[in-house]
Amino acid sequence: MSFHQGVNVAFLFGAVCFVLGLHFMNSPATARRGNQLSAAGMVVAVAGAFALVANGEAMSATRWIVLLAGAVVGAGFGLYAARSVLMTAMPQLVSLFNAVGGGAAAMIAVADYARNTAQGSGTAVATVLDVVIGSVTFLGSLIAAAKLQGYASHPVRLPGGRAASYVLAAAAVGSAVAVVAHVDLLWVLLVTVVAALGVGVLMVLPIGGADMPVVISLLNAFTGTAVAMAGFVLDNMILVVAGALVGASGGILTKLMADAMNRSVPAIMAGGFGTGAVGAEAASGSGGSVRSIQVDDAALQLAYAEKVIVVPGYGLAAAQAQHELRELTQVLEGRGVDVSYAIHPVAGRMPGHMNVLLAEANVPYDQLKEMDEVNPEFPRADVALVVGANDVTNPAARRPGNAVSGMPILDVDKAKSIIVIKRSMASGYAGIDNELYTDPKTSMLFSDAKKGLASLTGATKELVA
Ligand code: TAP
Repeated sequence: MSFHQGVNVAFLFGAVCFVLGLHFMNSPATARRGNQLSAAGMVVAVAGAFALVANGEAMSATRWIVLLAGAVVGAGFGLYAARSVLMTAMPQLVSLFNAVGGGAAAMIAVADYARNTAQGSGTAVATVLDVVIGSVTFLGSLIAAAKLQGYASHPVRLPGGRAASYVLAAAAVGSAVAVVAHVDLLWVLLVTVVAALGVGVLMVLPIGGADMPVVISLLNAFTGTAVAMAGFVLDNMILVVAGALVGASGGILTKLMADAMNRSVPAIMAGGFGTGAVGAEAASGSGGSVRSIQVDDAALQLAYAEKVIVVPGYGLAAAQAQHELRELTQVLEGRGVDVSYAIHPVAGRMPGHMNVLLAEANVPYDQLKEMDEVNPEFPRADVALVVGANDVTNPAARRPGNAVSGMPILDVDKAKSIIVIKRSMASGYAGIDNELYTDPKTSMLFSDAKKGLASLTGATKELVA
């Protein structure tokens, strides 16, 4: 077996690890193993790439130093970021990783172009696709990360922004076609880069409110596609496979999330997304009064309920109150209360956020019920216990003209009574009032989720005793 064949066999092994790893991520029970397997595949891929480079003729001492320094700095940053990031800041980190992936893929293509023009050979379609998609993803993802971090999180509409994005898109496509048609001028490719960067900015800036999750997922799919194109540019099989897996799974996730939020993917691409927001007043239809409840009364309701549906949201994650929640539900289950958890597809700040959080507290998977499964159960629930969830329960979504219009919600308002644990009447991610809180069936337990749940558990235990 030749050296190159050996490396290709290693790459094939890495690719199999990626595919099996993704497969294991199908279920929370095997997801950890899936992650480990994918990481092992990545180690093999990186080692193979290093072996190829070491075996090439173009390496000099300076190039080795640059390469190793880059690897150490990159791996160091990745390790630090992944270990120190708060679970609630994960979407920002994913967005930053998307930006890095897209930017790196675009730079590979630019370098390839420079080499090709120097050698007088043509430029492949994959190269310009890599430049366009990678550049759109780079700046688009940086803007998305900033928005998720709370900077300009509302839709930012620049005057003439839409027209400008069409002009930039046309410039990107036009210059890309010229590059493929053998116009060997570096500045033409730089027009492609700048125009695509501009498209990325103008695509993400006008998006806000509850629509960001779909955008992150879409940008993730873009990153994968750009990386796959980089694989074609470098003639590197493992890069093509890894990129295609990320592109395809990101694409499927985008479609699933868009369906779950009742949005259309083409509308996102056209930049006409997130345009439903017309201000807080649009959602504050009922204008009723707010009823607050004390811990003892809430504990009484829960302890004497037959069926309780817990509705977790971002506040549960922010307070890191999953263990306190589990303790409370165990006390209730001990009294024979039927407890289940209603999982909205975009509750929290990343796909599967609530599943991960509750799995950390060893909540049995069969108690977690997806939105479609749990919604018919709300009318039979004696108490819906909402813990730090807001937008995903807002009945205003059923009416047009506000930031959450059309988003399917958990039918919490159909429960016989509702207890909401949150600190204040502050709005959620979409920035609008929640009519659920002024529903006559709703009682507000104003508290940090961790403290509130701990006191509820204490009070329920006393009642039981
Ligand atoms: P949100 O609507 O964001 O509401 C969370 C609520 O938690 C806030 O109103 C806040 O009220 C409360 N809270 C914060 N810290 C708390 C604490 N320590 N203790 C108790 N409560 C606390 O959450 P949601 O219902 O889960 O909806 C998710 C939103 O995020 C959706 O709009 C969704 O589109 C968006 N989003 C989702 C994702 C994904 S993929 N899941 C990604 C990006 C954005 P107080 O300040 O009054 O306590």
